[in-house]
Amino acid sequence: MTDIAEEIKVLKAQRGAIILAHNYERPEVQDAADFTGDSLELARKATQVDADVILFCGVYFMAETAAILNPGKTVLIPDETAGCPMADMITGGQLRALKAEHPGALAVCYVNSTAEVKAECDICVTSGNAERVMASLPKGREVLFVPDQHLGGYIAGRLGETYVLWPGYCPTHARLTAARVAAAKAEHPGAPVLVHPECARDVRDVADQCLSTGGMCAYARSSQAKEIIVGTEVGILHRLRRENPGKTFHPVDPAMVCPNMKKVTLEKMRDTLRDMSPRVTVSEDVAVRARRAIDAMLAV
Ligand code: 13P
Ligand code: SF4
Repeated sequence: MTDIAEEIKVLKAQRGAIILAHNYERPEVQDAADFTGDSLELARKATQVDADVILFCGVYFMAETAAILNPGKTVLIPDETAGCPMADMITGGQLRALKAEHPGALAVCYVNSTAEVKAECDICVTSGNAERVMASLPKGREVLFVPDQHLGGYIAGRLGETYVLWPGYCPTHARLTAARVAAAKAEHPGAPVLVHPECARDVRDVADQCLSTGGMCAYARSSQAKEIIVGTEVGILHRLRRENPGKTFHPVDPAMVCPNMKKVTLEKMRDTLRDMSPRVTVSEDVAVRARRAIDAMLAV
């Protein structure tokens, strides 16, 4: 263990903190965490921890979700500028305007959204539960899906529905092309290709599986395949390789890097636990309304 990892361990015990990390975080950050998971697993974990302090190693909306679910706890983020560009592609005001254009419609947001947007929604989804949650919605109501056009389009296709899609997207997943997937398949014949639902439709169409990051970890564990091609942010390769030492994982495109996820470092984790700052706070009125949408999702 590095000196900084040791310092983090000591500070963590002093602060009574738990460390949660997303699957895209740097390898050393994942290794210093108590729990690594996808957005859904992290949201659930945040409701189950006893610790008074949560050090959340991920992008801002994820830490914000943990803060909304734990009003009595201190939620810390090692770098408060670690945002998600997709989450910032729609504001609360823009969603209110969209709702005004579609009176009576159900508003659904991907968890990759700001607290203000969640507060305007009836229910929230993650890539791990979107199909189940969307299938549970009452039939016959118009549905607004924000901000990810690709996840929304994917689920609409799976369920044979039509949603009003906000044109948001993830810049990291938008890099991936169908031609790159075809080239990776040619390089590794027989290896299944897993892609994230944030990828564009033509990419999803040539992949073998379309899964959340947690879904990819579960697939890798249970699959007979010895080689797997991974079409999502490259941080997940660390966990896949650690959990499946007998299997080989190839990034479909090594340039799929989310710069915001990489902002979290061991040094910043240590400093954040030492200073108990930066803290993630959400104003009471927004948190109460956003929590309704998250709780509705967790109840499905
Ligand atoms: P997961 O819910 O699959 O972890 O995805 C989160 C995310 O930001 C993907 O880009
Ligand atoms: Fe946001 Fe994309 Fe980064 Fe996920 S990978 S946090 S969607 S920018």
